[in-house]
Amino acid sequence: MAEAKREILFPKEVIERRVGELAEQISIDYKGKELLLVGILNGAFIFMADLIRRLDVPCCVDFVRLASYGSGSVSSGEVRIMKDLETSIAGRDVLIVEDIIDTGLTLSRLVEVLRERRPASLRVCAFLDKTDRRRVPFAADYVGFFIPDRFVVGYGLDYNEKFRFLPDVCVIEDIA
Ligand code: IMP
Ligand code: MG
Repeated sequence: MAEAKREILFPKEVIERRVGELAEQISIDYKGKELLLVGILNGAFIFMADLIRRLDVPCCVDFVRLASYGSGSVSSGEVRIMKDLETSIAGRDVLIVEDIIDTGLTLSRLVEVLRERRPASLRVCAFLDKTDRRRVPFAADYVGFFIPDRFVVGYGLDYNEKFRFLPDVCVIEDIA
């Protein structure tokens, strides 16, 4: 494929401001508690790194890596844990951090799995949300930006593992 055309959707200054607002809200909501942030690899690593440095509550981090299976680009909804958490979440205040919610299949399954481990609380913070694309109902507790049904890259988000390093969120054209 030739180099895809890119158009900036959210420049880094806008992202920085919004991440600060999210961190402020989360810090208010979890005042007096200790948080365990669970990042979903690979996409959430930049967002989580920025978010955690703006939080005003003590926190620890852990990560999961998931894979969804299906035929071609159509997800079957089956989500497998490729790398599980390394810490116990029982009795802890857990906040899942994700780059983007699309069909909702990944997060609804992960929430189901983590709930069975009896955390004191379990919420979700997503940097981006494409609500129009849902195949299962799912609403995150904290969302950076709601976006239309366009494919975006940068700030941790990839297209075939490329473009994660871009500091701005960009729409890429000419892909399915
Ligand atoms: P879903 O909500 O289960 O469909 O899956 C969300 C996952 O799909 C995200 O964690 C991303 O890895 C990927 N994804 C969905 N939309 C985009 C996009 O526009 N850019 C990059 N990755 C995306
Ligand atoms: Mg992802």
